[in-house]
Amino acid sequence: MSRYTEKGGVTVLQILKSKAEKKKISAITCYDSSFARLIDETDIDIVLVGDSLGNVMLGYDSTISVTMDHMVHHVAAVSRVLKKPFLCADMPFLSYHLSPEQALQNAGRLVQEGGAQSVKLEGGEDVAEAIRRITAAGIPVMAHLGLTPQSVHAMGGYRIQGRGTDAADKLIEEARIVEAAGAYAIVLEMVPASVAKKVTEAVGIPTIGIGAGPDCDGQILVLQDMLGFDDGFNPKFLKKYANLAKTIQDSVSAYDKEVKSGTFPTADQSFKD
Ligand code: KIV
Repeated sequence: MSRYTEKGGVTVLQILKSKAEKKKISAITCYDSSFARLIDETDIDIVLVGDSLGNVMLGYDSTISVTMDHMVHHVAAVSRVLKKPFLCADMPFLSYHLSPEQALQNAGRLVQEGGAQSVKLEGGEDVAEAIRRITAAGIPVMAHLGLTPQSVHAMGGYRIQGRGTDAADKLIEEARIVEAAGAYAIVLEMVPASVAKKVTEAVGIPTIGIGAGPDCDGQILVLQDMLGFDDGFNPKFLKKYANLAKTIQDSVSAYDKEVKSGTFPTADQSFKD
């Protein structure tokens, strides 16, 4: 993959150093090459091909239906064009739960076939052995604590996690466990800001928050959410930096009207003899 040799893209070492240097880490999801090309021209540090592609790209109502083949397909599309940001790929549901060997084999596919530079998996103590096995093979692992969408049924919905002293203490303990297992960063999803701050202070690796307040070492948002692709999706943690739903619908409607009225194409868009 050209990304490893060209013009010094972001590395895992730089991400680790960011915490010590108190430089905030910016991360965003991406699932295809057209958006990857645009993101590559920004200063975003980490691109995650998240299993949220199940909801965003494939029309599923959760991430549980996402398979390894889906992930490899989308990671490869992104990695073909992305050069600067560090590229992380989600390990989908049941791709790392059966054994550490299964976890390593699937992490290997995301790196070898997909071109990812690291993988992310959800969970704490239960997945520590998988993290150890994958990192021992030279693949950096990002952990994911708090709301872990692959466990939505066990959690009783997409709910805030880590509320109350016991739950907060457990979250801090899990963060220490995944750090000790070798993770290079931890996504903290939908936990109270005060708890995310404690977790961030308790570990030496960066925390990347989504719905986890301002004190994490970095932030991640789902690309289509922050671009305003879905008028009906407005969770408290989301800031929309654009309203592309309206722009896209207005553009497609204008095209539709012009085709039907015969005002597109004109001579400008037509070839001469
Ligand atoms: O799948 C995903 O997009 C994620 C982010 C929300 C962190 O896991």
